Amino acid sequence: MASRFQHAMILHIILFLQIVHLVKGQFRMIPPYDPVLGVVGKGAILPCQLEAETVPKEINVQWIFIQNTQSIEVATYDGKDVQYPVRVTRPYLGRSSFFPSEVNKGNLSLHLKNVMVSDKGKYLCSVSLENWYDEVVVDLDVAAQSDKSEVFLDSYVGQGIGLNCKSQGWFPEPAVYWLDSKGRIREDKVITRNLQTSSGLFDVVSSLTIEPGSDMEVSCRVVNGLLNTARQSRVLISDVFFPSTSPWMTAFLVTLFCSLAVIAALVYKLKIDQTRRQKEETMLDELKKGKEDLEKELDAQEKLHTAELSETKSKHEFHKAREIAVTITVIPEFQLLEIQVPRAPVVEDKACKLAGLSSLSTVPVLVAKEGFTAGKHYWEVEVGQQQDWVLGVVRQKGKQEDYWALRRSNGVTFSIKGNNRPESTAINVPVIGVLLDLEEAQIYFHDAVHESSFQRIQISPEKESTVVFYPFLSKGEGRFKPVCHQNIPVPLEIP
Ligand SMILES: *[C@@H]1O[C@H](CO)[C@@H](O)[C@H](O)[C@H]1NC(C)=O
Repeated sequence: MASRFQHAMILHIILFLQIVHLVKGQFRMIPPYDPVLGVVGKGAILPCQLEAETVPKEINVQWIFIQNTQSIEVATYDGKDVQYPVRVTRPYLGRSSFFPSEVNKGNLSLHLKNVMVSDKGKYLCSVSLENWYDEVVVDLDVAAQSDKSEVFLDSYVGQGIGLNCKSQGWFPEPAVYWLDSKGRIREDKVITRNLQTSSGLFDVVSSLTIEPGSDMEVSCRVVNGLLNTARQSRVLISDVFFPSTSPWMTAFLVTLFCSLAVIAALVYKLKIDQTRRQKEETMLDELKKGKEDLEKELDAQEKLHTAELSETKSKHEFHKAREIAVTITVIPEFQLLEIQVPRAPVVEDKACKLAGLSSLSTVPVLVAKEGFTAGKHYWEVEVGQQQDWVLGVVRQKGKQEDYWALRRSNGVTFSIKGNNRPESTAINVPVIGVLLDLEEAQIYFHDAVHESSFQRIQISPEKESTVVFYPFLSKGEGRFKPVCHQNIPVPLEIP
């Protein structure tokens, strides 16, 4: 029974309170539960809610920032001003606003944009109606966190290494933890400094010295307790970095390493250069060889060509000479002359040749009836296979006789007066063509069978034009052969 009575009592009290509330007015402010956390640079909503059946149009809302003892008006909403109900105070222009469409629903929240550290504090939302007034206070907490934290190797500290951890833009002051590879807080000595910048944010610098032999993995964790967030960065330090023996050794090793690197680079470059040079040389050699081969071939071809040309030329000259052939007649009993001719030189030696020339023999020769004082004249002599003969021209001047001749003796053919022997001693020409050129003062001996010139003798110049040159031939050996003009082939013209 008692319980039922109690229930009824409570119900009655609630009903009574409700009635009282409604009697007092239909308006009630809903107080905020927690402080609002604004992140620097972002927006924050400061809540203020009026509970009412209908929100009167003439509602007046005022947001005031209370900092220490000062109060600054942020923004007001005056329902009576139908055209411009909202007014924002200068420092908050563009940074704060109501939600206009929400006001008639009793949502009188303030939208604060681009939160700053200086915005941290209490905000009063006061609402007044015709004969009703109430207010609530909203706490704005501000927080900021950095994008990153960085760990640097700073310097050597004794045998250890000094590390620095830096991170900028925190609010409120962050906590810095140095951790090892297992995530445990390190026991090394740490010095942390927080520096507040003009914007109110904190830059943190923490330093720690690790000793050789300790855990080489070092993490720096910067924590924002308000936002419950952290930034962490990690370094793994190699033993190499420790000044193991002495700084001098390190310096030496570094220098050595650098030197080795430089030497290696140089060697590498030299090698590359050498390889390139070798390649180039090989290529050059090949090119040279190719050029030489080509030159050789050209040379050979030229020689061949020259040889052909000289042969053709020789033939041409022979034919030209033959065109001016004359008939030589001799009367054996009448035109006999004895001349002294050298025997054949035994050895090809010059000294011996002179010795050979000195041993003279007398040979009877037949002199032609025809004699020449000028111009060019050609005749042929058939010697067949005779091995001892002399033929040429003789000049009689008073008592003196000069002659220029070709002589064959002991299987050797040579010239007299020219003193130079035919190039080939083995030459054995059955028909010899003689061209007496008094214009040029030369005698040419031709191989009439092979149609080529093989010997030339210079005649000593003669001033007197009346001096006569007579063809001659050793008696009994060979004969002057008449040249048959009809058989002469027309020689090719030389280009
Ligand atoms: C008021 O309106 C804004 C915008 O629609 C909303 O974000 C906020 O939560 C509302 N506040 C309350 C207290 O209902």
